[in-house]
Amino acid sequence: MRSKITIAIDGPAGSGKSSVSKIIAKRLGLLYVDTGAMYRALTLKAMEKGINLEEEIMLVELAHNTEIELTHREEGTIVLLDGQDVTEKIRETDVTNNVFYLARAEGVRECMKKLQRKIAEKGNVVMEGRDITTVILPDADYKFYLDASFDERVKRRRKELEQNGRQVVESGLSKDIKMRDKKDLTRKIAPLRKAKDAIVIDSTGMSVEEEVETVISYIK
Ligand code: CDP
Repeated sequence: MRSKITIAIDGPAGSGKSSVSKIIAKRLGLLYVDTGAMYRALTLKAMEKGINLEEEIMLVELAHNTEIELTHREEGTIVLLDGQDVTEKIRETDVTNNVFYLARAEGVRECMKKLQRKIAEKGNVVMEGRDITTVILPDADYKFYLDASFDERVKRRRKELEQNGRQVVESGLSKDIKMRDKKDLTRKIAPLRKAKDAIVIDSTGMSVEEEVETVISYIK
């Protein structure tokens, strides 16, 4: 394997992106960067400050005045928002359902782009999100687009939420995922897209281990 590698992974909710990226980072000794956690942290701060999420100018100002840090401990990635540990809080349903306001704001994305590129600069990273292969790291050594059928993605997300002790209403969950997919795919700035030269992996019916093996088989 080359001395420094950059791996970019995109895909919709429940495609296995986060689980696969974490395992690959560990196996190959790379830094794992969850860019969704950054948008989630900003969303949490905007909500806590009572900012009107429709007001893009306010969101951009907030992004410029916020410190987001991903630190890595034995138990996994810890998300620090202005120095506070928000790892758990950013997974709450109302944060999930409001992320699109921040994700569609051009100035917010510009700010995240700078932060994310700075992290990736040193190399040896696995960065995952929605626009990593297309906008943030289009020259990454390896680019993957992970996907799975809608039903499978809903099933995985339900299992994940249940494992984290959250109550799940099945119809609400599929509605939320459908809505988020639509917003991620149709927003004007940096929508979720398959990069032309990305390796597309459909993991429907695969276990996480099988998905990891499939991704790793492409990495020399
Ligand atoms: O893990 P999950 O699929 O639930 O989502 P996430 O990766 O935590 O991202 C949450 C939301 O942040 C996504 O639905 C996107 O709207 C947004 N996001 C984005 O716009 N760009 C990224 N690079 C990462 C996330």
